[in-house]
Amino acid sequence: MEQNIFGKQGWTAELMKSQKGKTFLITGATSGTGFEAAKILASKGAKVVMLNRNPKKSEDSITAIKKELGNNVDVSFIRMDLAEQASVRKAAEEVLKKETRIDALMCNGAIAQVPTQKLTVDGWESQMGVNHYGHFTLQALLYPLIEKSKGRIVTVGSMGYDMGIKSIKFDDMNWDKDYTGNNAYSQSKLAQIMSIYELQDRLEKAGKTDVKAYACHPGSSRTSLINTSGSLMMRIIFGLMKLSPLTQSAEKGAYPELMCATEQDLDQKGFYGPTGRSNWTGPVGAHKLEPHAKDKAVAEKLWELSEKEIGMKWNF
Ligand SMILES: NC(=O)c1ccc[n+]([C@@H]2O[C@H](COP(=O)([O-])OP(=O)(O)OC[C@H]3O[C@@H](n4cnc5c(N)ncnc54)[C@H](OP(=O)(O)O)[C@@H]3O)[C@@H](O)[C@H]2O)c1
Repeated sequence: MEQNIFGKQGWTAELMKSQKGKTFLITGATSGTGFEAAKILASKGAKVVMLNRNPKKSEDSITAIKKELGNNVDVSFIRMDLAEQASVRKAAEEVLKKETRIDALMCNGAIAQVPTQKLTVDGWESQMGVNHYGHFTLQALLYPLIEKSKGRIVTVGSMGYDMGIKSIKFDDMNWDKDYTGNNAYSQSKLAQIMSIYELQDRLEKAGKTDVKAYACHPGSSRTSLINTSGSLMMRIIFGLMKLSPLTQSAEKGAYPELMCATEQDLDQKGFYGPTGRSNWTGPVGAHKLEPHAKDKAVAEKLWELSEKEIGMKWNF
């Protein structure tokens, strides 16, 4: 095992310094790790802008954070549905109009284990559409302000990147053949992670080394993820898992993305998450990433395809 640079306990929120004057954008912050991340950042004095699909849940989340931390915290939301490119574009426009800086864009929102093949309005398999293409567009549109702010892009992946097929299924991106919720979810998470490491290479090539890009995951955390989009069987299985020590709190699940969004001098090449058994729980730090997630030829092809699909090129 790699040595944890944060010591035996790994990275925890206590290590986070004041974030006064900084702005963090978090997708999917109405529950789970995104909500916990928003709360912790707000408690450290940051400005937090949630990018959520559900206005009512967003208001409730803000109320809950203010109830705990006081009315002076700076937490707001902009409506954005990652499943609709038009909504992502509208939200990005609003962000660019309202915000003067982005210290980190935390790509946290997701759906998982969707039991049957569904397509988004833009015609992509739903998990690929929400988790990968939704975020890919958002990142590309917000990149100019992130660059101006010398900010970061943080992608919340999953150990699922290694639980499906070990490459991108270019000949059947929508899973018209052999669809399973797990394979399609894993594929979307693999795509998210691969494009972060590819982004690092492209930033370096363009000489934009002030912008950082990180990939991490929350291990196995007690959140709403499977209840929101998973099948009854998956909900039962994960419901039982939540009662076992194989899972951790949503707050701990937020640590890897918080670390990647705020910690200085973190090696971008790493993959960050819990370092205990199976990387489900345990001290947060860097850990092994299987080589298929950094397959350069596949990553380049995925990047080109993604730009073509969203109809936009990143402007480095
Ligand atoms: N929990 C785990 O054990 C685990 C394991 C591996 C990876 N992850 C990853 O961790 C991240 C956070 O998930 P979580 O476990 O905290 O799950 P969660 O509690 O279900 O939170 C997911 C968030 O994403 C939002 N979301 C879903 N679809 C969206 C859309 N179309 N547009 C905008 N927002 C959308 C949800 O909004 P609504 O409230 O409107 O549904 C919610 O705020 C995800 O990237 C997930 O893949 C989690």
